[in-house]
Amino acid sequence: MSKEKLKKQIINELNKALEIEHSAIIMYLHHAEFVTGLNAEPIIERLKEIASDEEKHRDMIRERIVVLGGVPSTKLGDLKISQSDNIKEMLKYELKEELVAVKLYQKILGLVKQLDNSETLYHSIYHLIQDEQEHVEELKRLLAIK
Ligand SMILES: [Fe+2]
Ligand SMILES: [Fe+2]
Repeated sequence: MSKEKLKKQIINELNKALEIEHSAIIMYLHHAEFVTGLNAEPIIERLKEIASDEEKHRDMIRERIVVLGGVPSTKLGDLKISQSDNIKEMLKYELKEELVAVKLYQKILGLVKQLDNSETLYHSIYHLIQDEQEHVEELKRLLAIK
């Protein structure tokens, strides 16, 4: 693959990731408003913390797309955001979306590896995957699944 083609593909995939981050921020903030019950407070706090992680991801990816010569997407990803009286249902949905994000970032990391002089981008994506994997672990812990 030519360098230009590879770059274009990376920009394309980063834009998909950016749209997922846009939606993830709204999803976590929206869900946080519908968490009720005796244990609500720490869960609400955690969901808002995760939303602020996703905001950092959004900003980083947007910046990286411009550095690569692309135009960042302003769209939302296609995940459907709804709410539930059942906290577990919302957490399960979040977990599913986090796993989709991890997979996409792993794919992007593989592409970035093939690009010369891409250590900064590689490091950023690598760090981002660590964040998303932490979200996965956290959601699994809240759901009491291994
Ligand atoms: Fe994220
Ligand atoms: Fe996440």
